[in-house]
Amino acid sequence: MNKQTIDQVELSGKRVLVRVDFNVPLDEGKVTDDTRIRESLPTIKKIMQAGGKAILMSHLGRPKGKKNPDMSLMPAAVRLAELLGRPVTMAPDCIGDEVVKVVNAMQPGQVVLLENLRFYAEEEKNDPEFAKKLAKLGDLYVNDAFGSAHRAHASTEGVTQFIKPAVAGYLMQKELEYLGKALANPARPFVAVLGGSKISGKIDVIENLLGKVDAILVGGGMAYTFYKAQGGEIGESILESDKLDLAHELLGKAESSKTDLILPPDSRVCDELKSGVATSVSASDKVPSGKLAADIGPETEKLYAAKILAAKTIVWNGPMGVFEIDEFASGTRKVAEALVQATKAGAVTVVGGGDSAAAMEKFGLAKEVSHVSTGGGASLEFLEGKQLPGVVALTDA
Ligand code: 3PG
Repeated sequence: MNKQTIDQVELSGKRVLVRVDFNVPLDEGKVTDDTRIRESLPTIKKIMQAGGKAILMSHLGRPKGKKNPDMSLMPAAVRLAELLGRPVTMAPDCIGDEVVKVVNAMQPGQVVLLENLRFYAEEEKNDPEFAKKLAKLGDLYVNDAFGSAHRAHASTEGVTQFIKPAVAGYLMQKELEYLGKALANPARPFVAVLGGSKISGKIDVIENLLGKVDAILVGGGMAYTFYKAQGGEIGESILESDKLDLAHELLGKAESSKTDLILPPDSRVCDELKSGVATSVSASDKVPSGKLAADIGPETEKLYAAKILAAKTIVWNGPMGVFEIDEFASGTRKVAEALVQATKAGAVTVVGGGDSAAAMEKFGLAKEVSHVSTGGGASLEFLEGKQLPGVVALTDA
């Protein structure tokens, strides 16, 4: 990595301002998935053990610049304290005199979590005055929020204009290393599994990966716009009619590239998308009228598992079907299991965040692959080949 890291800076006695991504799901005031908090522990512990003062900041949800107690970071502070086995002080705000007082009272080794940054519209606007106020709270800055690195916000980008050095934390490093290595220097065959409901969300990823990967295995709702573009019958399956030309174009580009763009030969179909519904299997280009495809079919599961097992590097982003409903979880589960098997056989397996990471958690397989990204949008933008503003802003090594 060409950026400075937390291992290259003096932390002892320093006020270390750390951007974490504690944008975690909550239910009735409790954190329901603490992965992002757990993944930030190595950086926080490093600061504590080195005698630094860890001042953590994050957003949670999209409060749109208004204070909203339902989006307080308090539940994250509670969970973090449990995980650390040490108290975590929740600040009343993220800027202002009260916060300055809390920070000034910190002892080396202590941890403070600032309140939700997005209670101020200035955060998402990347307002320099707001960034300056945040910067004043620290002597140096650490960005460990890979999940927010695709946002050019005050706490991820603007702040680095006013506080130096700005370095990468351990989670940020780990994410960039796995995703970066997979793309830049993959052991081959290199296979990408791309799912999700819409082509529109994956165009840039497909374009970036064409020519780089040996095969793209397509699943999820987007497969049916590809089939429609080739004249297939897709019944009531998801169709982006304004993307038919684009689907055509991508298929053409794939043909003239070295990448096989593989569509699912069969699908699980139903009359209605709900739990308990009767399902049947149909060729993906002959979905009967009135039926809709909600998962890849058994033949596709076998084909994709074989491709995954023959690969040495696999990147997965997006579920194969509506895995939240048991009847349509099979395809996503089979891909997840194939990734686990491939990992055991020595392949490097990287799961992009968001829905595929949630699926890995749901199946209890998240620890069985090489890396599950904590970034949804961020890992997608990385796979699209874009520069992440939160990374670009860090101090060069
Ligand atoms: C995420 O969950 O992907 C990140 O925390 C970014 O959140 P955002 O999409 O609301 O900016």
